[in-house]
Amino acid sequence: QIHQRTYLVDGELRPWKGNVTEVFSTISSTETYRHTVLGSIPDLGETEAMEALEGALNAYDQGKGIWPTMKVRDRIECMEKFVSQMKTKRDEVVKLLMWEIGKSLPDSIKEFDRTVDYIYDTIEDYKQLDRNSAKFQKHEGVYAHIRRGPLGVVLCLGPYNYPLNETFALLIPALIMGNTAIFKPAKHGVLLITPLLEAFRNSFPKGVVNILFGRGRSVAAPIMKTGKVDVLALIGNSRSANALQEQHPKSNRLRLVLGLEAKNPAIILPDADMDLTVEECITGTLSFNGQRCTALKIVYVHEEVREKFLKEFAARVDSLKFGNPWEDGVKLTPLPEPDKPEYIQELIDDALEKGAKIINEKGGKHYDNYIWPAVLYPVTKDMRVYQEEQFGPVIPVLSFQDIEEPLDDMAESNYGQQVSLFGKDVYALAPLIDTLANLVCRVNLNSSCQRGPDVYPFTGRKDSAQSTLSVHDALRSFSIRTLLAFKDN
Ligand code: G3H
Repeated sequence: QIHQRTYLVDGELRPWKGNVTEVFSTISSTETYRHTVLGSIPDLGETEAMEALEGALNAYDQGKGIWPTMKVRDRIECMEKFVSQMKTKRDEVVKLLMWEIGKSLPDSIKEFDRTVDYIYDTIEDYKQLDRNSAKFQKHEGVYAHIRRGPLGVVLCLGPYNYPLNETFALLIPALIMGNTAIFKPAKHGVLLITPLLEAFRNSFPKGVVNILFGRGRSVAAPIMKTGKVDVLALIGNSRSANALQEQHPKSNRLRLVLGLEAKNPAIILPDADMDLTVEECITGTLSFNGQRCTALKIVYVHEEVREKFLKEFAARVDSLKFGNPWEDGVKLTPLPEPDKPEYIQELIDDALEKGAKIINEKGGKHYDNYIWPAVLYPVTKDMRVYQEEQFGPVIPVLSFQDIEEPLDDMAESNYGQQVSLFGKDVYALAPLIDTLANLVCRVNLNSSCQRGPDVYPFTGRKDSAQSTLSVHDALRSFSIRTLLAFKDN
């Protein structure tokens, strides 16, 4: 167990003697899957939040502070120091990813290594950005040296499903661009940040990174209320994002870098390669139990191939191996949110009441705190599983005759992140692909939806996102263009 009793503020790991919050593990033993206590974190409040804000404001000092004025090569050196210390914590963090959020061993390793690569790639991209900005332009007799400057203080909140990778995909570019930050990890996936606290303290000047524990409403909301935050960087749900945004008295001054809900569809055409489609739909709907904003959350299958798809897909879902994250070949793992099985059950009950059926034999069976993925068909628009982002193991399937049906649904949807299109005749599909690209931000052809590779832009339309992430784009999302201009005289 890990009982964290310090928090990082203004370059110090400050001791905490107040109340603590228990953190649960998804696994209690190798045989049962009930939540047990894995450790605890400080239940910080407004006083500590203000200390963190003070630290970040001082290090930024309206752009005159130590961090935003530091030479590029020195900022890079801090980042390199951090990543090399972070790498020494790989085993500890990977173990906690498995125990705390139930991520499988290969996926936990991937999350850690992907994050390290992300930091190195960010450093390289930043160097390139700096080289480019050293070039002068001349238009109409005016020379300009166009650069990118920081925005100020960033409040950064990460999600539980990628507590390391996605949080750092916000924090690292924000820092390297010269912003200072206050970071609060998610409720689940918080202990795995604790082995990295010292690396943060040792690598950055005081106040540049401040790390708080506790509830969003106790620490993040009071910080927003001061109106002194320049960027809200959050990956999670729009409820939290909106609640925090509303606290800010001058929200028109606030830059938003948000990754929110999505309801990414799979569209299966009559000529789709069925083996490939089934495999990609398994990955898309059930990787990490569907707890990914990029997961496929609704499947549209053409009437002509509906029966074949449902039969093969249902059998494949039931053939997946459930178990502890470290076991070989495990695809389905215990769920970190204790109330998730109950919520998924509610979605299933609602769909059954309104006429859907569970297609796979094991669908909806409970194993302690796990619920087996249910494939539901036929799903209709009045069902909760159609309307809500399930973020868990349940798969709604609809059939269609005319491609306009899924297109109309996508146009009506509040979300617009990605789509997966399955069909063979790529040339014939070109106009459809163009239309889909106007409804979402990424069209995946014969493959499931995903965020990576991390150099590709990651964003969404409508309520799915604000700003763009990726190694390259995030540097731009966390900065503003500035220029030095002079006349040719
Ligand atoms: O929760 C959303 C994540 O960005 C998903 O990332 O597609 O790499 O699994 P991924």
